[in-house]
Formats: sequence, C-alpha cells, structure tokens
Amino acid sequence: MPHRDPAELASVLETEDLLERGLVACAGQVRVVLDIGFGRGELLIELASAQQDTAFMGVEISRKRVEKVARRIARVELKNVRVMHSTAEHVVERVLPVKSLAECWINCPDPWPKKRHFKRRLIQSEFIERLRQRMVPQAVLHLATDHPGYAEWMHDVMSKAPGWENLHAPAPWSDTRPPRIATAYETEWLAEGRCMAYFEYRCQETR
Ligand SMILES: C[S@@+](CC[C@H](N)C(=O)[O-])C[C@H]1O[C@@H](n2cnc3c(N)ncnc32)[C@H](O)[C@@H]1O
Repeated sequence: MPHRDPAELASVLETEDLLERGLVACAGQVRVVLDIGFGRGELLIELASAQQDTAFMGVEISRKRVEKVARRIARVELKNVRVMHSTAEHVVERVLPVKSLAECWINCPDPWPKKRHFKRRLIQSEFIERLRQRMVPQAVLHLATDHPGYAEWMHDVMSKAPGWENLHAPAPWSDTRPPRIATAYETEWLAEGRCMAYFEYRCQETR
C-alpha cells in the first residue's frame, strides 16, 4: 500500500460525526451549501474557491471519488469544503438539520433511462419534499440534466411539489447554463451536440 498522508483526506467528514457534533461545529460557517453527487468535484471546488465565507458540503456515493476530491481540496488548500461518503437520501433524510441549507446543487444526477429503473432516480417527490425541509426560506435549488426524459421527469416532480418557485417560469427550464463552470460531463455532452436543461427553484416560506 502506498504511504498516504492523513492530511490529504482532512476534508472527509463522516456523517456520524456530523450527527454527533452538529452542522455548525463541522462546517464552521452559518451559510451552508450542498453539492449532491459531486463526481469529479470541479463545481464544488470552483464554488468553494469563489465563496470562502460559505461552508460547502458535498455528498457522493463513490468512495473513490470522495477520496480523489478530498486530495484535490488539500492540494488547493481550501478550508471551507467538507466531503461525505454517503448517499444523498441518507444525508438529506437523516443527517442534515431542518432549515440548514442556503443553496443546493444537483448537477447531472444519474438519469436511469430504462423505465424499470425510474424508481432509482434521485429526483422523486418524497426526496424533494425532505430536501425542501432542509433548506432555509429563499434558498435556491439548482438542478441540471442532459437527458431529455429526465428533464421532463424533473419538471413534472418539481411542478407538483409544494413550496417551490420556478425561477425560469413560465418556461419549465432554461437551456442556458447559470454563471458557473461546465463540469467535464457537461463539456463532453455539449460537444456531442446534446442539450442541457437547467432548473432553478426557490424555496418558499412555509408554515
Ligand atoms: C453523472 S455524475 C455527475 C457528477 C457531477 N455532479 C457533475 O455534474 O459532473 C452523477 C454522480 O452522482 C453520484 N451518485 C449517484 N447516486 C448518488 C446518491 N444516491 N447519492 C450521492 N451521490 C450519488 C455518482 O457516483 C456520480 O458521481
């Protein structure tokens, strides 16, 4: 086994630790932004570098990706990002406190294109309702997909979900990327001539 410096993985946060110590103790900032399924972490790192007074948290199901991104975070010496090896469902349902997120990014979640796999899609009404409960009023949820069927699915779920305002209305979504970098996936897909659908929803005040 190659020698690994533990400092390389200093940004990895165990969900049990977060549950035990609380979000502010772990994140170290009042404003918390979550990137769900951060993949290679380009967006997470870019956002965190640009907003050093905000705490960024990422959750990713692949341990390999969590460790790779943690090493990049250590190399660029970012102190305001923590990455968790877990599922979005677990973190949103069981780990994050109510009204804790100022913003959330779900960029290109796996589309699960076969009908028999639709139930595996992350964007489901129950998940979106739990996510809404974790967001502060006025917080923005950014969603994006390159898959036309998943874009229709996202629109359907979001338009039926209570407590969200579509910031692109009356259009269901925008095909223009919000002001941020394109991830490697997006660059690849756009080069293949595929279109992206970008959604921005604001969380409304609820009783
Ligand atoms: C298509 S990639 C997109 C990666 C990145 N967001 C981007 O735009 O470049 C989807 C990512 O979501 C992760 N993922 C899939 N299901 C997940 C889940 N339930 N919870 C957290 N991450 C998940 C995958 O491991 C993968 O890295």
